[in-house]
Amino acid sequence: MEKYIIHHTDALHGHVRISGAKNAALPILAACLLTEEPCEITNVPPLTDVFHMSELLQEAGCFASYDEKTETLSVCAKEITSDLSESEQAGKMRASFLVAGPLLARCLHTFVPLPGGCRIGTRPIDLHLKGLQALGAKHKTEHGIVELHAKQLKGASIYLDFPSVGATENILLAAVLAKGRTVIENAAAEPEICDLADFLRKMGADISGDGTDTITVQGVSALYGASHSIIPDRMEAGTFMIAAAITGGDIILENVQEEHLKPVIAKLGECNVKTEKTAEGLRVYRKGRLKPLDIKTMPFPGFPTDLQAPFMSLLTLAKGTSVITETIFENRFLHAAELRRMGADIRTDSHCAVIEGVDELTGSKVHATDLRAGAALVLSALAAKGETEIGEIEHIARGYCHLEDKLRALGADIRKEESDE
Ligand code: UD1
Repeated sequence: MEKYIIHHTDALHGHVRISGAKNAALPILAACLLTEEPCEITNVPPLTDVFHMSELLQEAGCFASYDEKTETLSVCAKEITSDLSESEQAGKMRASFLVAGPLLARCLHTFVPLPGGCRIGTRPIDLHLKGLQALGAKHKTEHGIVELHAKQLKGASIYLDFPSVGATENILLAAVLAKGRTVIENAAAEPEICDLADFLRKMGADISGDGTDTITVQGVSALYGASHSIIPDRMEAGTFMIAAAITGGDIILENVQEEHLKPVIAKLGECNVKTEKTAEGLRVYRKGRLKPLDIKTMPFPGFPTDLQAPFMSLLTLAKGTSVITETIFENRFLHAAELRRMGADIRTDSHCAVIEGVDELTGSKVHATDLRAGAALVLSALAAKGETEIGEIEHIARGYCHLEDKLRALGADIRKEESDE
């Protein structure tokens, strides 16, 4: 167990390179199960969730090897087993269930444990199963293991009750090898879905409409090996933008796609934080005191739920009252109690947080309850007076690579220590 020790940091300055997106890498690694041929994925961030997915692929019989120097993951799923009922990796993260679609498509029978993940809500998989069922699969869950089987997968019209990112991905991952045409309506339109679709097209899949709410897939009989570079991580980018804002800094983000950050750029602009495209990257700097604002989390292109906690940190120091409404997950305000320990004035009920800005935060002993909550605490600690100790930082390593090195390079006073707890 490790902890972060962070001291107050004045304005961050300098350049930071944004890594590949965790949420794009995970489904793309699962997609490698769809072909016997080797695949090479680059710009893969060295994160614990990525390592768990790589080990899960190995449990399924794949060759999977990560070169940390080049951030390249090579996968070959020549001979695989579709029975993952004994998997040690599956329970470690939510995204493990993304192997269900490809294993079903390739082997027509699979056993996959129910997924694990952050404590931010119940996170059922009913929409994944409904979609796979529409493609012709039967399923049952016993002793925590989901069994899926089909004689043949057949294209279907699927309407999702909610534009679930994971369900859209799982259905896409099965439909590419189904017979005939699949249309997914009310599909998720996140950039990570488009990255997955891009990779699948390189493998030979026939997909159109990704990035909109209607995705059409014409099934093909086989897919082939392909190479692909993962898109930049918009959540890591957003977190560094907020780090610049909360410290009154001025930084340049390299390797970002501005169009993926539109809702974040818009909200930062509202609270006095400017962004500017430069030849070197995206410049982010604050102009004066932070202004309060209201945020409602929404599916893309709305404001991302994954940046709700980091943004709350920022708003604790705005001049006035802000309101955050969380519409995606039912239990995503765990960070509010920790921020209160640092002097923040936040009231929450089930889906709403009211934040009264304070003049300063004070260093304290806090705990990262989940991945993005952990990021929020790091951000507040940078701005807080004195020393902050953040425990359970293994949650943060699930989604941010070399966070302390990247922040130190921008001038932050942050170090990692063994935790005695
Ligand atoms: C993905 C992201 C996560 C992000 C989330 C929403 C990955 C690995 N993770 O998670 O970082 O916060 O999208 O943008 O990409 N739901 C159901 N039934 C289902 C599936 C989902 O009720 O079968 C509900 C969930 O409980 C949640 C909401 O739908 O309340 C959104 O979930 P979903 O979009 O599926 O998120 P994930 O794919 O799990």
